[in-house]
Amino acid sequence: MILVTGGAGFIGSNFIIGWLEKCSEPVINLDVLTYAGNLSNLATLAGDQRHLFFKGDIGDRSLVARLLSDHRPSAVVNFAAETHVDRSIRSPEEFVRTNVAGTLRLLEETHAFWRSLPESERNSFRFLHVSTDEVYGSLATDAPAFTEDASYAPNSPYAASKAASDHFVRAYHKTHGLPILITNCSNNYGPFQFPEKLIPLMILNAVGGKPLPLYGDGRHVRDWIYVADHCAAVQAVLEKGAPGETYNIGGNCEKTNIEVVSTICRILDELHPQSSVLPHMRLITYIKDRPGHDRRYAIDAAKIHRRLGWHPKEMFETGLRKTVKWYLENSRWVDQVVSGSYKEWVSLHYENGGVK
Ligand code: NAD
Ligand code: TYD
Repeated sequence: MILVTGGAGFIGSNFIIGWLEKCSEPVINLDVLTYAGNLSNLATLAGDQRHLFFKGDIGDRSLVARLLSDHRPSAVVNFAAETHVDRSIRSPEEFVRTNVAGTLRLLEETHAFWRSLPESERNSFRFLHVSTDEVYGSLATDAPAFTEDASYAPNSPYAASKAASDHFVRAYHKTHGLPILITNCSNNYGPFQFPEKLIPLMILNAVGGKPLPLYGDGRHVRDWIYVADHCAAVQAVLEKGAPGETYNIGGNCEKTNIEVVSTICRILDELHPQSSVLPHMRLITYIKDRPGHDRRYAIDAAKIHRRLGWHPKEMFETGLRKTVKWYLENSRWVDQVVSGSYKEWVSLHYENGGVK
């Protein structure tokens, strides 16, 4: 049995579904269900005894202690986090509460549990912390991609909070010997991504005939990875990674935002010709840039490829097409997750050209 946190979010739910397709080890899922967490992501697991859901906070020490001692997992995989850069600019405290203090509390309770284990179980136990390439900061256009040795230089409050959590996780290995693993992954896309992030936001706005708001000049670069590839990498690190090590995960797929949005528009022209505005490219609108907007991220994933034999399988064109189709076919899911508070966020963030 493994304990997954944040398993009702985008990547966590894809991870649990993929995990239970491949192996018989049950999963305890601890998720507090913020606006970004949706149990409907896990609807295909209804009635599956191998998935045990607990609604709760990673910072709730007594709950975490109870889950660990009752279920005795062989690993903790920490996906739980506040994850949206734009929200971190407006409301950073929640990011410190969950990403920093929550991770520290989870580490504290995991460390106490791990110390209580007999030696053989202690040796095989793992605490895997899922992090982001954003901790490394921004790359110049011609700079080499981030390796695991790149210095930390977080530029947004989100990235700063993830960097702090990575440091705490690393410190629990150095100080206490806790067998930790850290993964730093690039931008994910795929089913169940909350529609505040670039790709689902653009798909849903385009279908609704709404503006496609690109920040600044639209030439910022992200390294995109299909979510199933990220989940497979996390599983490989959990099974074969060396304790104390960091593994970068990336899709080897650098794209400017304007390239991504244009590709979405072309796919939608073909798959959704009934839209009110065609071609969808007509909806692209340039708005005020995000403050401190990182120009470029790129991941060098040679280490995980060489040492663990993992490499991404999905091509961007096919992964994006699958993703667009998924959003077109799952409008009920979209309606469920897009609550009143999401609508308030959109109106606060994008009204008046994003300058509010
Ligand atoms: P998400 O925002 O979709 O989901 C986060 C989940 O964590 C939600 O289900 C939420 O309810 C839960 N959560 C938040 N605070 C919690 C708390 N205090 N206790 C318990 N649960 C809590 O995020 P995501 O995109 O799935 O990202 C998952 C992880 O992967 C994060 O740690 C993120 O930093 C990392 N990551 C994401 C990306 C990406 O492109 N999305 C890339 C690299 C790394
Ligand atoms: P996002 O999905 O928020 O991920 P991150 O900032 O963590 O990389 O944004 C991806 C890129 O898309 C980033 O360069 C910001 C840009 N972006 C826009 O241009 N417009 C938008 O409305 C959003 C949400 C993002």
